[in-house]
Amino acid sequence: MKRVLVTGATGQIGSELTMALRTRYGGDQVIAGGRKTKPSEALRNSGPFEAVDCLDSSAVAGVVRRYGVDTIYHLAAILSAVAEADPAHAWNVNINGLRNVLDVAREHRCAVFVPSSIGAFGASTPPNDTPQDTIQRPSTMYGITKVAGELLCDYYFTRFGVDTRGVRYPGIISHGTLPGGGTTDYAVEIYYEAIRRGRYTCYLAAGTFLDMMYMPDAIKAAISLMEADPGLLVHRNAFNVTALNFDPEILARSIRAHIPEFTMAYQVDDVRQRIADSWPNHLDDSAACEQWGWKPDYDLDAMTGEMLAVLSEKLQQQE
Ligand code: SER
Repeated sequence: MKRVLVTGATGQIGSELTMALRTRYGGDQVIAGGRKTKPSEALRNSGPFEAVDCLDSSAVAGVVRRYGVDTIYHLAAILSAVAEADPAHAWNVNINGLRNVLDVAREHRCAVFVPSSIGAFGASTPPNDTPQDTIQRPSTMYGITKVAGELLCDYYFTRFGVDTRGVRYPGIISHGTLPGGGTTDYAVEIYYEAIRRGRYTCYLAAGTFLDMMYMPDAIKAAISLMEADPGLLVHRNAFNVTALNFDPEILARSIRAHIPEFTMAYQVDDVRQRIADSWPNHLDDSAACEQWGWKPDYDLDAMTGEMLAVLSEKLQQQE
């Protein structure tokens, strides 16, 4: 029987991943671990919630021991734009928090899922069809912690036999919990503003291509990798995965197919533009496809249709 702990369970990915895991393994089998943000009613009512700060390793170990956890999805992390504002804090959470989780996993023989990111690459990485194994010299604190995290996960597997696995997520788009300060957040905000105001001012320039993914595919990636036959995994950690690839103009066009009067203006934010410019345009995710059958379900139009439908209803209810 699976017993899962999700850290960062009140965050953008964690909140939806926890619900998906509860549907799959049973509500009581999946412990939502959050630090300070209050859990939503859905999270609170569908299974256990525990206040865990991954910087407090004895708190993490306590939950793992108490519930007999065998798998940890470690989602607690600081995103790229916030990390540039407070690099020391990002280092602490993304590195020391991860190391704590890996040590607990080692002691209690847990498998661990750890997301990396397109942010683990830098300006010297080949930007188009970025290979699985390539140059990684990121120029952001977020990226530095992600590369170190990838290596740390590999190390805990080879040195201590911890079953670590992970993907490099692109920007994640969802209609549930908002993202917490990333460079790719525009691709979420744009849907809210399109519905509320019919217009959006984008902080990334036209022509800034980045890989993106709709939340159901992000969840599918995590769960299918964790359930994959380990004998088939050559890489284990940091698999390139992608689903969508667009710049702000292409995204705006897909919204205009539903809201023809939608307009977009640009007011470029230097910090986030610099970050985005240092990331690849488009990843090659063939290793994930070959080793564990990765295949996304949503294209841009399917995602836009669903995002606008669900968010329209949600925002109407909030009025
Ligand atoms: N969405 C993340 C960010 O923008 C990238 O992994 O920080």
